[in-house]
Amino acid sequence: MNLARQIEQYLPQQLLELVKDISGQAAKRGQRVYLVGGVVRDLLLGYPNFDLDLVVEGDAVKLAQQVAETSQAKLLAHHRFGTAKLRYKNFTLDLATARRETYAKPGALPAVTPGTLKDDLIRRDFSINAMAISLAANDYGELVNHYQGRNDLEHRLIRILHPGSFSDDATRILRGVCYEQRFGFEFETHTAQLLKRDIPMLDTISGDRIRHELEHIFEEDRPELVIKRLGDLGVLPRINPFLKGDGWIAEKFDKARRLKKPTQLASLYFCLLIYSFSERGVEQFLARLNIPAKLSRAMRDTLRLKTKLPLLDRPSLKPSEIYHLLREYEPLAIQANALASDEKEGTPSLIVHRHLQLFLTKLRYVRTSLDGEELKRLGISAGPEMGQVLQILHKAKLDGEVRTRADEKKLALSLSLKL
Ligand code: CTP
Repeated sequence: MNLARQIEQYLPQQLLELVKDISGQAAKRGQRVYLVGGVVRDLLLGYPNFDLDLVVEGDAVKLAQQVAETSQAKLLAHHRFGTAKLRYKNFTLDLATARRETYAKPGALPAVTPGTLKDDLIRRDFSINAMAISLAANDYGELVNHYQGRNDLEHRLIRILHPGSFSDDATRILRGVCYEQRFGFEFETHTAQLLKRDIPMLDTISGDRIRHELEHIFEEDRPELVIKRLGDLGVLPRINPFLKGDGWIAEKFDKARRLKKPTQLASLYFCLLIYSFSERGVEQFLARLNIPAKLSRAMRDTLRLKTKLPLLDRPSLKPSEIYHLLREYEPLAIQANALASDEKEGTPSLIVHRHLQLFLTKLRYVRTSLDGEELKRLGISAGPEMGQVLQILHKAKLDGEVRTRADEKKLALSLSLKL
């Protein structure tokens, strides 16, 4: 099968220029270059994917260096194991030396030696990701399909390439479910059995790698489908006994995505994921996934605030009181609690929801117009006195008791006379 037409049709012009430059220079060096992995799968499916991975039979780093020296492409990085990243205009592209991999023990990073394209394809996770397309001039666009990838793609099947695949690298369990849900595929029977058998092998995977896979899942259009399926398969409890993929999570993830500005959407998903956990459960989760400090703070705050929500359930609260109750929490934790609380008329926590929203959309941005310098000019000396005046001004502004700059000046002057 030849995919030259699909390559020309789906890849943007600039990316094609770079790919052709690379394969041209590789030919001069006597090397062969192939498109591999996700992009081949997606070209066959007709999905756009500009995240290109190229495999070189021969030294990929030397090739990348030569391309960077002789074209406008920039070499962004190169690493041990013969991988390199090139940037050209708006695109980046990964180049790797074809390699053979062996796993000393389950979950360990593999030992890597140079190999052929065939070696490089058999080490991969699933048959649908183990195809390549030649970029050499004599057979440009020709599909390399040693492991039934095309057949599995047509039958919508996810199949591992050897029985030890999940135990070598149990992140493939998470990756497989991700593809299953993204494409609406099914696990081939034997693969499904081995997946279930090897769920305990997740214990061999480091926290950073599990976290990375969850972040990868959170980039999906509908990560809740993946989370739910991982729950049904019994994968989630292996990561943390409190982790669930129920209808509640699905509804809240969906809402989180609809927020106008879903800044840090992945972090928000993490906060929602642990919403029903006990404090101990959260600590276990943070430690297991080696969650970075800032996100850990937001996740702990999410639970801490959840226990304080009854304090916000009073319609008579003034804006300054709401501000006072919420100012110590990470905005992400407040956002997670706003999503978790009811927002329909007549529901029990509607007031709580409104107060959280008021803080997020308005109160946290309220600042006084007058600053320290201006207060000095009004005769208020720096130090505790000024601090007190600024606090009272801020409170008055939150509660709408002062609106204009002139209002603030008037209040500051009257305060200075009293202090
Ligand atoms: N791969 C693998 N085992 C893993 C991770 C990756 O075999 N644990 C291989 C697969 O062949 C995959 C390729 O490395 O196609 C690139 O990995 P990645 O960029 O994570 O996946 P994509 O296939 O590009 O898929 P996605 O569309 O999800 O990004």
